[in-house]
Amino acid sequence: MPKQRVLSGVQPTGNLHLGNYLGAIRNWVESQSQYENYFCVVDLHAITVPHDPKILADNTYKIAALYLACGIDPADSKIFIQSHVPAHTELTWLFNCITPLNWLEGMIQFKEKALKQGENVGVGLLDYPVLMAADILLYQADLVPVGEDQKQHLELTRDIAIRLNFQFGSEEKPILKLPQPLIRAEGARVMSLTDGTRKMSKSDPSELSRIHLLDSPEEIQKKIKRCKTDPIRGLTFDDPDRPECNNLLTLYMVLSGQSKAAVAAECESIGWGQFKPLLTEAAIAALEPIQARYQQVMAEPGYLESILRQGREQAAAIANQTLADVRSAMGFASPL
Ligand code: TRP
Repeated sequence: MPKQRVLSGVQPTGNLHLGNYLGAIRNWVESQSQYENYFCVVDLHAITVPHDPKILADNTYKIAALYLACGIDPADSKIFIQSHVPAHTELTWLFNCITPLNWLEGMIQFKEKALKQGENVGVGLLDYPVLMAADILLYQADLVPVGEDQKQHLELTRDIAIRLNFQFGSEEKPILKLPQPLIRAEGARVMSLTDGTRKMSKSDPSELSRIHLLDSPEEIQKKIKRCKTDPIRGLTFDDPDRPECNNLLTLYMVLSGQSKAAVAAECESIGWGQFKPLLTEAAIAALEPIQARYQQVMAEPGYLESILRQGREQAAAIANQTLADVRSAMGFASPL
């Protein structure tokens, strides 16, 4: 049996944080040998809100380097930059012409982001999920690892594929494969350090709310020192009245690689003053190898470039085939 194909992407906006790593990338790494993986840096998505052209390219390379630093292995996984495979934008256009406007207007993330943008809502922001559908469907992906916030986008992706297959394919020979969500049982949900009820997020205005993968030990120490706690002594998991406590214990458990029972026993009778240094140490130790590998990758730009070039070639070969199939099903004249 050939391996199932997995596709995912990260936007090159801001730094990756512990939520991105523990909730997503670490899982990709753990299961990468089971699948045929395509991991892209979705730079075209990053310009759907106003962006700074001076840092787009650097941020794009940075995410690619962080993929490698986190353990994505080019032997199992292709790493590439979305805009380097022009089929993404071309398929997006073809999809645009079969996607009802009201599917997009109703997307939760669009409505939330549009509110934040005020007057300055670009067409690209509305079209964001169609571009994401193109990312996935171009590779005939079987599985897409998604968090809660991307589920609706994956459903839309399936709806677009169903519609295109229905309008231009035949039942015996669908043009596009319907992807399934890859949901993992123990994918850690990392919450903000300043509010245990909200997800750790790139868009939180407070830097203190998250730990970046490239934070120095001093920064990590400062952020944990200032993080929100509660006045109760004795730290326990799963107390609904203590969201911060549950989040910090979970982080400690995952970062230190201990079992829940071991952490529960270690922390049941200690206070925050004792706990914070433990968490700080675990975070610094867990990030140290990633940071070292990142520095190594960045010191050797030729290596990263060769990975990305290879990734682009392998990605383009599949993407161009799918694009050609869709063009032909939609009745376009073949290029001469
Ligand atoms: N929308 C995703 C996010 O913000 C990023 C993304 C773009 C993506 N294209 C994708 C994720 C394709 C999975 C598959 O997290």
